[in-house]
Amino acid sequence: MAGLFDSYTLKDVTLRNRIMVGPMCQYQAQDGLANDWHSVHYTSLARGGSALVVVEATAVSPEGRITPNCLGLWNDQQAQALTPIVASIRKAGAVPGIQLAHAGRKASANIPWEGDDHIPAGAPKSWQPIAPSPLAFGGDLNRTPQEMTLDDIARVKADFVKATERARDAGFQWLMLHFAHGYLAQSFFSAHSNQRTDQYGGSAENRARFLIETLEAVKAVWPENLPLTARFGVIEFDGRDEETFADSVSLLKKLRSAGLDFLDVSIGFSTPTATIPWSAGFMGPWARRTAEETGLPVSTSWYISEGRQADALIRTGGLDMVTIGRPLLANPHWPFAAAKALHKKEAGAILPPSYGWWLNRYQ
Ligand SMILES: Cc1cc2nc3c(=O)[nH]c(=O)nc-3n(C[C@H](O)[C@H](O)[C@H](O)COP(=O)(O)O)c2cc1C
Repeated sequence: MAGLFDSYTLKDVTLRNRIMVGPMCQYQAQDGLANDWHSVHYTSLARGGSALVVVEATAVSPEGRITPNCLGLWNDQQAQALTPIVASIRKAGAVPGIQLAHAGRKASANIPWEGDDHIPAGAPKSWQPIAPSPLAFGGDLNRTPQEMTLDDIARVKADFVKATERARDAGFQWLMLHFAHGYLAQSFFSAHSNQRTDQYGGSAENRARFLIETLEAVKAVWPENLPLTARFGVIEFDGRDEETFADSVSLLKKLRSAGLDFLDVSIGFSTPTATIPWSAGFMGPWARRTAEETGLPVSTSWYISEGRQADALIRTGGLDMVTIGRPLLANPHWPFAAAKALHKKEAGAILPPSYGWWLNRYQ
């Protein structure tokens, strides 16, 4: 039975263990361009021993950014800025992945430590968010988005394809489509945000259409031998979880038939009134059910912070990988700490010898 430190192979990619660095926005970019912040951040995470480093939500178009300081991949200059970071992740023995995203109605927000709310309409840095329907998310994200026309939908799908080509050419080996967290794709799927009456709204089948078409379009340009994956919110914690989960399972089965190789199971975040039962590893059972009912290999995140907990989720919890977020911000060498907690012999070998040799010898 595989554990946290056993390798994992998906298509032509072999990961050195089961630890994925979850995509985490850094809000440090200007004009969508990666810089020395991103270089140090992602290289440190790769050197820390994680197997897969997924670069943060990277917008496929300027209006698809969450904030003015999000990364983008809508031009070649942005791809050039990411290329040495990809090489640096690989040199450290990790696999470089990227999350491609469109923020939909949650776009045009202030960065978290400057408010986390919508930038007021008309302010110099703001832009017009677009979404399936003209419905604001609510709370601090109260701007009403512009309803997307069929032309808008076609253009955003094409933007995903062009960004995928750039990610491929920059050397990324694992593609994660951001279909979660109330951003554009999730907002097409959720009835909280989609009240369209055309072929992209109404029935669960229609609300799934944008996600399926986007995946199909991207698949045509992403190498067949590399993992094509997504992060998707399977439930909302809005009191209708079994119904939503059943719809999610039918969508995921279709995505799997269309070429989805792996799913990072998450939460929908489509309504500010959800009651989320935050606790250690609480998404684990939902991820397991998702794997069982769809046949997809899965990971999940949310409060997986201890090595033994992560190992148990792989060994007996039905997960293929664990996705770690904040514990890796606290300590990019978290995999080493996890290995020590699991009494792994020569835990120092998790890290480059400049660190690990000493830790094996003197700890
Ligand atoms: C600073 C920060 C930025 C994040 N940015 C993203 C993102 O770009 N895309 C995404 O899907 N999730 C994002 N998340 C969610 C994380 O990937 C992860 O799912 C979440 O933090 C739960 O895992 P944890 O409990 O290990 O932190 C972010 C989380 C944090 C803390």
